[in-house]
Amino acid sequence: MWEKVQETVSYITEKTGFTPRYGVILGSGLGSFTEDIEIEHTLPYSEIPNFPTSTVEGHKGALIFGKIGGNNVVAMQGRFHYYEGYSMTEVTFPVRVMKFLGVEKLIVSNASGGVNPFYKVGDIVYIYDHINLMPEHPLRGKNDERFGPRFVNMGEPYSRKMIAKAKEIAVNMGVDVKDGIYLGLQGPTFETLSEYRMVKVLGADCVGMSTVPEVIVARHMNMEVFGISVITDIGSEDAIEEISHDEVLLAAQSAEPKVRGIIKELIIKY
Ligand code: HPA
Repeated sequence: MWEKVQETVSYITEKTGFTPRYGVILGSGLGSFTEDIEIEHTLPYSEIPNFPTSTVEGHKGALIFGKIGGNNVVAMQGRFHYYEGYSMTEVTFPVRVMKFLGVEKLIVSNASGGVNPFYKVGDIVYIYDHINLMPEHPLRGKNDERFGPRFVNMGEPYSRKMIAKAKEIAVNMGVDVKDGIYLGLQGPTFETLSEYRMVKVLGADCVGMSTVPEVIVARHMNMEVFGISVITDIGSEDAIEEISHDEVLLAAQSAEPKVRGIIKELIIKY
């Protein structure tokens, strides 16, 4: 994998001559963040050697390179999910590549289902911890010390300093944000009511099908991580509503301007 990562990094560096410092992974319905970037290069995944290609509706599939307030950024427009059939190595490959392109800080966004009774649809949650219940671990197998250590400390997967700065930003913007624990499941089914209850009993505030693998791999390589989630539906017996992917996208899009603003300011001010 080391060689593949280096090959991809060399290709991108030759093509763009660009050294990003911030990496952004855009979740469902949050892709328009790229409008905040003064774009210098766009590389469709299909053109990047060793990159998987994106299949999910609402995910476009390109690496976007450019500046936000003078800071060099690379954004993944569309991510790879385990439920699509990719291996965990494929799901997290772009994060490896970002690291060796020069990314030190990774911002990850997603849509999730809320199980915390104080959450409502459209809420913005800063992820301060996660529970990994994905069926495969992205670091399973022989460890390559060039990436990071065998046993990764997960005491602070999400940077407390970045959360504190992002809270300041939200206050200044007049945007209400919450803190929460994200639980990662494989999907692609949304949870049964009993599964939502399980998520809550296990101590999480929201549940989704992404993020956890990318964050683990980022921490393996000692990147600083910030995670932000939009609550797109509520998983509880009292709120039985049909959830569909379209509704998830709609709810995420309604919170998108605020999420965009927070991420942009965080890149400028942190
Ligand atoms: N469950 C899992 N993933 C999700 C949900 C959900 O309720 N909403 C958005 N992504």
